[in-house]
Amino acid sequence: MSLDDVLQAKKATPTLPDAQVVTSVTHYTDRLFAFRCSRPQSLRFRSGEFVMIGLMGDNGKPLLRAYSIASPSWDEELEFYSIKVPDGPLTSRLQHIQPGDPIILRPKPVGTLVLDALLPGKRLWMLATGTGIAPFASLLRDPETWEKYQQVIVMHTCREAAELTYGRNLIEALPEDPLIGELVEGKLLYYPATTREPSANMGRVTDNLLSEKVFADLGIPPLDPETDRAMVCGSLDFNKDIKAILEEAGLREGANSAPAEYVVEKAFVD
Ligand code: A2P
Repeated sequence: MSLDDVLQAKKATPTLPDAQVVTSVTHYTDRLFAFRCSRPQSLRFRSGEFVMIGLMGDNGKPLLRAYSIASPSWDEELEFYSIKVPDGPLTSRLQHIQPGDPIILRPKPVGTLVLDALLPGKRLWMLATGTGIAPFASLLRDPETWEKYQQVIVMHTCREAAELTYGRNLIEALPEDPLIGELVEGKLLYYPATTREPSANMGRVTDNLLSEKVFADLGIPPLDPETDRAMVCGSLDFNKDIKAILEEAGLREGANSAPAEYVVEKAFVD
């Protein structure tokens, strides 16, 4: 959609509060899709934060859910990556959106998965399952990530290989990115894995860390609280299990008000 089309579509929905316009939709599997929409001019956010987005419900009230912003803070549009839950109140409808459709977006970004909540370090681990890759899609395209860290290691695990496509496309495009391509050079280690379909690094993130397979495969030293920082985004169980591993390695959980060695956010599902 051109900017003119977006402005026209926005004029057509003046009664919807906080309305933005969908500009593109990409379906990856029957469970996953991504979409882009217009960005409110006033919206400032830190890469890794989330906002409330949604659609107008049948009862005339907005039906909203928390979604990590997957686009970087410099992008003039916003991008989101979503699961499709057949009977999910929001995603059963959201999965049918088309370019030109209105979407509600509350412009109040929040979240702990931000670089400011971590103490300075050398290596940054991004640990994700499923749609938990979304905040990292933002952080990976932010120059600050690459300026702050000497090495960025992305571990993303999904059930099947096709579910890795969104993250893989984005990560493989980073070296060619005109803004950050040079910054990324020699710093990125990508460790995609599957759990229910054979692949090179088969196994859960937790198992690949505990067995030390990931360190051996990538040829890097194990977790060290002096140098390593981690950001975690996945299901509640995943976050809990990863926290235990990080704590065992001597890393402590940080927050905006008290930066430390790792931060955690739930991947939001409907
Ligand atoms: P698994 O296939 O062994 O359950 P989902 O699609 O259910 O959100 O899962 C996404 C990925 O997260 C799957 O590969 C799944 O592995 C993995 N996973 C789920 N729970 C955990 C956990 N507690 N620790 C590590 N990985 C997990």
